[in-house]
Amino acid sequence: MKSLLTTFCLAVATVAAGQLHISTPGLSLLLDAEKGSPLEYVYFGPKLSEADIPSVFASEAHTPAYPAYGVGGSPAYGQSYALAARHADGSLATDLRVESSAQTKAADGSVTTRVRMRDTLYPFFVDVCYLTHPDCDVVETWTEISHSEPSAVTLTEYPSLYLPVRRGNVWLSHISGAWGNEGSLNTELLKPGVKSIRNRDGIRNSQAAQAELMLSLDGKPDERSGRTIGAALCYSGNFDLSVNTDLSDRHKLIMGIDPANSAYSLATGETFATPVAAISWSDRGTSGVSRNFHRWGRRHRLSHPDEPRPVLLNSWEGIYFDVNEPVVEKMMQDIADMGGELFVLDDGWFGSKYPRDNDRQGLGDWVVDPRKLPDGIGGLVDSARDKGLRFGLWIEPEMVNSYSELYEAHPDWIIKAPGREPVYGRGGTQLVLDLGNPEVQQHVFDVFDNILTQYPGISYIKWDANMNLKDHGSQYLDADSQSHLLIEWHRGFEKVLKRIRAKYPDVAVQACASGGGRANWGILPYFDEFWVSDNTDPLQRVYMQWGTSYFFPAMTMAQHISASPCHATHRATPIKYRVDVAMSGRLGIELQPSQMTPYEREFCGKAIEVYKEIRPTVQLGDQYRLHSPYDGDGVAALMYVDEPRDHAVFFWYKTEDFHNHHYPRVTMDGLDPDKMYRVTELNAIDAKPLACEGKVFSGRYLMDNGLEMPYRHYPADTDLMSDYSSRVLRLDAINQ
Ligand code: DGJ
Repeated sequence: MKSLLTTFCLAVATVAAGQLHISTPGLSLLLDAEKGSPLEYVYFGPKLSEADIPSVFASEAHTPAYPAYGVGGSPAYGQSYALAARHADGSLATDLRVESSAQTKAADGSVTTRVRMRDTLYPFFVDVCYLTHPDCDVVETWTEISHSEPSAVTLTEYPSLYLPVRRGNVWLSHISGAWGNEGSLNTELLKPGVKSIRNRDGIRNSQAAQAELMLSLDGKPDERSGRTIGAALCYSGNFDLSVNTDLSDRHKLIMGIDPANSAYSLATGETFATPVAAISWSDRGTSGVSRNFHRWGRRHRLSHPDEPRPVLLNSWEGIYFDVNEPVVEKMMQDIADMGGELFVLDDGWFGSKYPRDNDRQGLGDWVVDPRKLPDGIGGLVDSARDKGLRFGLWIEPEMVNSYSELYEAHPDWIIKAPGREPVYGRGGTQLVLDLGNPEVQQHVFDVFDNILTQYPGISYIKWDANMNLKDHGSQYLDADSQSHLLIEWHRGFEKVLKRIRAKYPDVAVQACASGGGRANWGILPYFDEFWVSDNTDPLQRVYMQWGTSYFFPAMTMAQHISASPCHATHRATPIKYRVDVAMSGRLGIELQPSQMTPYEREFCGKAIEVYKEIRPTVQLGDQYRLHSPYDGDGVAALMYVDEPRDHAVFFWYKTEDFHNHHYPRVTMDGLDPDKMYRVTELNAIDAKPLACEGKVFSGRYLMDNGLEMPYRHYPADTDLMSDYSSRVLRLDAINQ
């Protein structure tokens, strides 16, 4: 007989006391939380029927027992554990038993489950928590650790998620990269041993690897089919995502803050809450899991989730540091003429004693450079408004150059190892401010606040971060707390972001970090979008955007049309390919418009007009990844479908060019099989329309057969022929 321990704050369907069913319409997680026993993992997968649950508990629990949150030093849990702690008396052994559990249902249907465990010897408590999101099949989980031991307990490992996954032909998909090559998709079979994906940058956490992964349970990952688990650590700092494949028949997925150099001394009475990890399940492959995360992000996590993002021109690749008023004025006029909605002035606008003419100086001195902008930022904001544009500004408030008035005044604010010289970053002079220090938190808040107070007409901030943490040392923390550096830095960062959001709820903020260094769900509650990469080469972007879309919806992904040849790769590409690739996310332009040919300007102007029509579908619809560029077939295709399945946009890109090669025909997805859709090609350049142009097809036909995409363009002007081709089709249901 199970003891009666579960407390119901509101009625939540369960099976027997202590047996917890955590569920959404598409998934179930079963835990055995019998009082006095270890908390046991029983099941995670597709939604179970009430009829099956008792049998699943009876047959899966204790055969053998797998912990729901393994603990180091506890004999039952062998080699793969989550939590490790050194208790006040020096013991490294922790052994937890369930003390209580409770499930609380909120008005929106979400359910919070909290299981409290206590050590068998010490007053040391671990609460494992789960929050369901029934509208997107995502469960958030986190852990709260506390104690009343006589002195501090040192937490040496403290992950957010611990999930046993049945071994078999299980494949891992994860995203890695480097500067200019963010968002690369990797897939690999899980083998015995530990597969660990780590970030130790300190500041930016998604350039070399992202804090999310998927596990495909039915062999090699497929975008459209197969049972798939997705997991995202919602944190902006160092992380460790590990899959431990030990001698048991379950992989252990363990995700949390990277504990290296970060032992946390937990004071008596203090509670340490881990970041949230979000998990999801789909039997519709990796693309199915992505759609769950996109919905979860848009409904529960993202800043301004319902507001379509504006089409913008960013000044960086157009003028770099050569900011000057007439040039900027002209750029604003040009983007306004092309139908753009926002102009963003990037780096180079500030600095007085140390003008920001290059990346060696000026960071920290957020005053306008009057040589470059005699009428100041205010003049530009007014002028943008007169042109019908919104205005955005670049800042990098967490950083400082040693050549700056800020550094001269506050050398004690920088991160620096005790007794050592600081190690410099970008430009040989950049340093990171210590956000663990409340004075620095105030400074960073003030940078944002002063700009917005002075120029209330600013509606968008590009927040950059171009340096990793090169020293391990806080001049603010005492000697015993140096291992808290990274945790306190990110706590400080979040405190500042919360204050900014409370005061400026309407300002849009882009997360940029040397390109895509800050694509993570830890900061996106405070940001509207992120810059995918400094590499704007459309061919490479097809791959980068594909990988990045595994966990992030299109509206968060800033994708800009840039000059040809691309400044990063020097590859020359036609304007159509550049536009078509950028249009599959949040469209922008990043070049000097005065250097565009008349044809390019006209093409972009028309594309912006069309983009505004398809924007609700692209930015707020569901994404279906159809044919992966990583499959090496020379083709990539994806589409977006709005919720009523009345409108869809299909993107097709050729990624390799071979004459008379037989590229695969791509079938569509996500449409209503019984609706009829009219096909319109967008951004068309061929002399003759496509054979399918204007025709009407059933959703069923399009999903069963797709449409033939000619792999070359035959424009009337043969100068426009190239080895690139791409197609964008709009599908509109008729008689909606
Ligand atoms: C790095 C960013 O990724 C670029 O877009 C640009 O803002 C530069 N920093 C400016 O220094």
